[in-house]
Amino acid sequence: MNRLAFTLAALLAAAPAFAQDANDTSAAKLIAQYSAEAGITASAEAGKAFFLANQTGGGADTPSCTSCHTADPKAMGQARTGKPIEPMALSVNPKRFTDTAFVNKWFGRNCDSVLGRECTPAEKANVLAYYSSL
Ligand code: HEC
Repeated sequence: MNRLAFTLAALLAAAPAFAQDANDTSAAKLIAQYSAEAGITASAEAGKAFFLANQTGGGADTPSCTSCHTADPKAMGQARTGKPIEPMALSVNPKRFTDTAFVNKWFGRNCDSVLGRECTPAEKANVLAYYSSL
């Protein structure tokens, strides 16, 4: 094997099997970051209200976070493609919110689908506090 092929093979072997494997953050760290950015104390109650609310501005078939994640964060959800989504509640799915890039990617997509805009740091802090409180 030449050096380039060896390097590629080593990189592939080291690549995580799942997108969520970076393990470079945690719900607690993200809540602290977003709260500081927003200048608030994160509220699980406000996060619950946000998660359950019917919003405007997004897609007609995705008025709420519950459109895909269901109203129970401890339950399995379903993407519009029918693909299952693992539960959001940390108590049943401790792998949640451990990969910064994954969290950013999905907050970006999901907030756009539901609200037609980015979620604010306060909304992110609160909803993560809710997922952590269950
Ligand atoms: C159109 C379907 C859909 C809607 C609506 C939706 N989500 Fe998601 N969400 C997904 C999918 C699919 C994933 C990625 C698969 C997974 O994490 O299991 C995901 C992942 C996430 C993640 C990343 C979780 C992690 O482990 O890092 C967060 C945070 C999230 N969603 C929050 C929200 C919030 C908040 C709302 C409402 C504003 C919302 N989602 C609405 C489909 C949706």
